[in-house]
Amino acid sequence: MEQNSLNPVAESGARVRLVPDTGENLIELKDITFAYPGRPAIFENFSFAFPKGAKAGLVGSNGSGKTTLLQLVMGLIKPQKGEIRLFGEPTKKEADFRKARIKIGFVFQDANDQLFCPTVKDDIAFGPLNTGHTREEADAIVEEVLALLKLSDFRDRITYALSDGEKKLVSIGTALAMRPEMLILDEPTTCLDESAVERVVKVLLDCGLPYLIVAHDRPFLDRVVTSKYLMANKTVTPMDTKNAILHQEEQ
Ligand SMILES: Nc1ncnc2c1ncn2[C@@H]1O[C@H](COP(=O)(O)OP(=O)(O)O)[C@@H](O)[C@H]1O
Ligand SMILES: [Mg+2]
Repeated sequence: MEQNSLNPVAESGARVRLVPDTGENLIELKDITFAYPGRPAIFENFSFAFPKGAKAGLVGSNGSGKTTLLQLVMGLIKPQKGEIRLFGEPTKKEADFRKARIKIGFVFQDANDQLFCPTVKDDIAFGPLNTGHTREEADAIVEEVLALLKLSDFRDRITYALSDGEKKLVSIGTALAMRPEMLILDEPTTCLDESAVERVVKVLLDCGLPYLIVAHDRPFLDRVVTSKYLMANKTVTPMDTKNAILHQEEQ
């Protein structure tokens, strides 16, 4: 039941809040307005909530703002207006986002934005080493993550020489290595062949973490998420309208 209680505060022009604010959200965006410099606004008074324990997909056409939404959540870009709360805490300053980011395993749409170390093992160890783990602990995490993704043979490979699909898998590894409390994945299956997709599906189903996944690959999403949101016309709406109506009736 809880898995289906996706809790999008999908506020349209009519500003309907679909479910009561339970204070149990991992992510809350309230009345966000955001435009890239010199461009029209992508979001205007946009609100969105992602509740504890959710396993949700976010779909929408190219350019609809999915990556922008994820980057706002991660504090990589800043809204001109509005409020962001992560793990129940207001996140305003960079220090707030830094604290929250440690708890989120984030996979960039472009793996080249994620990987910057000489070798695969350095890239996977980077997060743990940066968050206070010893070299030995970081090495153990690297082995664990590589085994999970069936990438143990890649330990000493040169990152920049990997194929796009291999880079994507390693990116997912760097997110898992943070031992996060939730995952946010931006198109994790792009460039992956069937067997690599299977590895990702297994990792997601086994990880026990909540996650928000942007993907065009609907069959993949259908296997790993319990609810989906649609991003269109500067707003996010739950795709399971039956659920949304149910939540409205519960109010
Ligand atoms: N750094 C940027 N500067 C200016 N415009 C951008 C930038 N990044 C994305 N955009 C534009 O913002 C819109 C939303 O992009 P994006 O969030 O990447 O969409 P999606 O991930 O849904 O494909 C698009 O029109 C895109 O061209
Ligand atoms: Mg995108």
